[in-house]
Amino acid sequence: MKFSKNILCIGAGYVGGPTMAIIALKCPSYKVTVVDVNEERIGRWNSDDLPIYEPGLLDAVRAARGKNLFFSTAIPEGIRAADIIFVSVNTPTKTFGLGAGMASDLQYWEKTAHQIVTYSEKPKIIVEKSTLPVRTAEAMERILSENKKNIHFEVVSNPEFLAEGSAVNDLLEPDRVLIGSQQTESGFKAAREIAAIYAHWVPIEKIITTNLWSAELSKLVANAFLAQRISSINAISALCEKTDADVAEISFAVGSDTRIGFEFINASIGFGGSCFKKDILNLVYICRSYGLNEVADYWEKVVKMNDYQQERFVKKIIKEMFNTIVAKKIVLLGFAFKANTGDTRESPGIYLAKKLLEERAALVICDPQALENARKDLAGLEGEVVYEPDPYRATQAAQAIAVITEWDVFKKLDFEKIFAGMRKPAFVFDGRNILDHRRLFQIGFNVFPLGKPSLTHF
Ligand code: UDX
Ligand code: ADP
Repeated sequence: MKFSKNILCIGAGYVGGPTMAIIALKCPSYKVTVVDVNEERIGRWNSDDLPIYEPGLLDAVRAARGKNLFFSTAIPEGIRAADIIFVSVNTPTKTFGLGAGMASDLQYWEKTAHQIVTYSEKPKIIVEKSTLPVRTAEAMERILSENKKNIHFEVVSNPEFLAEGSAVNDLLEPDRVLIGSQQTESGFKAAREIAAIYAHWVPIEKIITTNLWSAELSKLVANAFLAQRISSINAISALCEKTDADVAEISFAVGSDTRIGFEFINASIGFGGSCFKKDILNLVYICRSYGLNEVADYWEKVVKMNDYQQERFVKKIIKEMFNTIVAKKIVLLGFAFKANTGDTRESPGIYLAKKLLEERAALVICDPQALENARKDLAGLEGEVVYEPDPYRATQAAQAIAVITEWDVFKKLDFEKIFAGMRKPAFVFDGRNILDHRRLFQIGFNVFPLGKPSLTHF
């Protein structure tokens, strides 16, 4: 079949895979190829055992794969054939050198830019999908324009706003699609071409075009605002635990103000995920590099509050369990950074597990999707860790349960049965406030919700 356009995506991860699956599904006349250096990952995209868990994704992939959606490791061939290249390689926080722990590590991204220059034989639109520091497009343009072949590359920023666990829906019905381009004739033309892809299924009024730098910065700011709401309510949860206020009631009362709204004000053990912390630290780094120290300090506090919330949770477990958890069996219900994903990047579960192991607790980790990643995250740590997908087996002879992830399955567990199998006194620390605390207390548990009065039998 002759396709009207060749789209390539470099990087078959959480962003690239689902985004391209939906583009392929909605644009049958385009050929969409996703390439990655990781052979195993590509192998899994070509199977029914996809490398990431995302509700609805397998159906979308199956519907398009082999027709107009292809997964491959043939990067040079892919680049040569492409009219449009989406770049969605990983841009983790730097762990070394200048800006370590703050700035983005752009080595994968830069390598990609060089590969594009090396293998291209015709003009292309290059789309930044990965979250990148502001003005990265400028660096990308510089690398691309150094080609000796005189090929024109137009760089466009099209940041991804999908959230894991609801990625398919977020892609099918986005609040907005943001496209940033140079404010030149060729920039506008490229933006129109990218908009035309999304216009296959997104109402035109939801497709926003801006200048390149606004698009790049909007992504960081959107994530910073969302994370800031969580840190704000988490700060209040600490105060609630000192008073008799209930943080869920406060969220409801405050969120009922339509100017505030209910989203992202659920108190938790802290936000995780690959984006929030990274993007805020990036923002902080950029502000500092422009000498805007007050602005940098302001946003850095959002991350510090998130660290504090996790520390607070661990300290509470230790204190309430009589200041020692040595050899006590503690079950982490959930390990993913949020429900409906197997992703554990920056999950508070990692911090918690490490701290509990340092205190020599015997840990059991129970999660419907994240055990494979949990094993990798905790590999090499000293101490006893058991990975058990079945919550009933996991809690046998345990002393405490700590809810880390708000999976629906945990809400529906038979806690009488669980209580019967646990050592007494039995504790529940609900880091997500998803359980029926009064009911648990009646069963016999000592219950420690987050930002609410505790219910104990002592
Ligand atoms: C986020 C943004 O939502 C998305 O737009 C962007 O493209 C990528 O980063 P994601 O990290 O997948 O998406 O998940 P999100 O739903 O935003 O949750 C992030 C973290 O905040 C999770 O750990 C979640 O449990 C936590 N959270 C969320 C809370 O603790 N309380 C809330 O009220 C909402
Ligand atoms: P994200 O959450 O941003 O999608 P992931 O880590 O899930 O990040 O995915 C990024 C993908 O990019 C990984 O599968 C990685 O192997 C791939 N990748 C990194 N560098 C390159 C490169 N130069 N060429 C092709 N793929 C790359």
